[in-house]
Amino acid sequence: MAPNRRVFVKQVAALAGAFSLHSLFNQTHAAEWQQAAKRLQNLSPEQVARDEDFWSVIQRAYTVNPNIINLNNGGVSPAPLVVQQAVERYNQLSNEGPSYFMWRVLDQGREPLREKLALLAGTSPEEIAINRNATEALNTIIFGLDLKAGDEVVGTLQDYPNMIQAWRQRAQREGIVYKQLNFDFPIESDEQIVREFEKAITPRTKILHVTHIINWVGQIMPVQKICRMAHDRGVEVIVDGAHSFGLLDFKIPDLECDYFGTSLHKFLSAPIGSGMMWIKKEKIAKIWPLLCNSQPTSQDIRKFETLGTRSFPIEQGIGEAINFHNAIGPKRKEERVRYLKNYWAEKAAKISGVKLHTSLKAKYSCGICGVSVNGQTPQEVESILFNKFKIHTSPTVWENISCVRVTPHVYTSLTDLDKLVNALAYIASSKNTDSK
Ligand SMILES: Cc1ncc(COP(=O)(O)O)c(C=O)c1O
Repeated sequence: MAPNRRVFVKQVAALAGAFSLHSLFNQTHAAEWQQAAKRLQNLSPEQVARDEDFWSVIQRAYTVNPNIINLNNGGVSPAPLVVQQAVERYNQLSNEGPSYFMWRVLDQGREPLREKLALLAGTSPEEIAINRNATEALNTIIFGLDLKAGDEVVGTLQDYPNMIQAWRQRAQREGIVYKQLNFDFPIESDEQIVREFEKAITPRTKILHVTHIINWVGQIMPVQKICRMAHDRGVEVIVDGAHSFGLLDFKIPDLECDYFGTSLHKFLSAPIGSGMMWIKKEKIAKIWPLLCNSQPTSQDIRKFETLGTRSFPIEQGIGEAINFHNAIGPKRKEERVRYLKNYWAEKAAKISGVKLHTSLKAKYSCGICGVSVNGQTPQEVESILFNKFKIHTSPTVWENISCVRVTPHVYTSLTDLDKLVNALAYIASSKNTDSK
């Protein structure tokens, strides 16, 4: 079979798996989706990123409110209808007899789901724990490490507050030393970032904490280079991948880190309240579970899943989100979201008084971009965007960062982004004074 034909057959097979026979999406959109897939078989991900017919099918797979433009997908993303339906189905089943259907029926799906997540992450299933979000995953690692008073950890002021607080609590309670670098983003130099981490390392440094994509402004950090430098000095690296997993097309081993935590309800579009932790096999035994298990020093990753009663429907719904993600194609998705960011940001950058807080170079950003308007606070800009234009964004005032964070997703249309650009032009012009 010719290579292109083989790729196409694989794509169609992936689509068939993604949209099960009974799903509404399949009933409504299968024909147009398959037509689009046929047309796109010879195009690169960058070319597909600009094919509005293809993405219009994806847009219709979501059920987002048509009257509000949601550009805060960095906060939490909606799930497509197929994922919502899966959760509803599992929920109905659970309520037929919770202890029987959850623990004896749905629980049978946990190991296949672990394998599916492992395939997506490029790791062994024995290194994947399923949980509720990045906060839980990363707190498990932060509090699970044996560290003693005087041991040093290096993070940044621009990391996520939940993780900063976790490290500060360990410093307050146990006397570890938590140092935070202060980066002035955007930075278009990997070497500069690696150098700052390197300079902070002392003989007492045990851990570097690195956020893969900085949530406030979307800077992509050079994780692999930081890990190589750290490992040369005997230091381990924890990666906060809340915004990278399901968005950037990478495998966790590519990063060369030791520990990784992520939420699945961001770019993967899995049900809200789903997350994942990865720990390198040989390090599992030394991490203590946050929620205890009878074998706390075991090397079985399942020791981190003694979470008590939680939503099995949400957990099992992750599988449908992975199907949907694979059906789009991870690289196509990354390129589409980057294209959407560049689409609005390049236009906005030309408006007098508007400033971007994010590099537009592909290496340094993907979907998230910070923007500000001269003479207006982020709260003022966000409030006009919502009150006058019904565009939902996130005002960001944190350490040295002051901007509005804009995050499109695969369902975002170019028309919505044109509205954003027009709204920013309005806010930057004198006309906005009457709307305050
Ligand atoms: C960088 C980063 N890490 C962790 C989190 C925490 O995610 P969750 O609330 O899903 O635990 C977030 C949330 O936005 C984040 O931006």
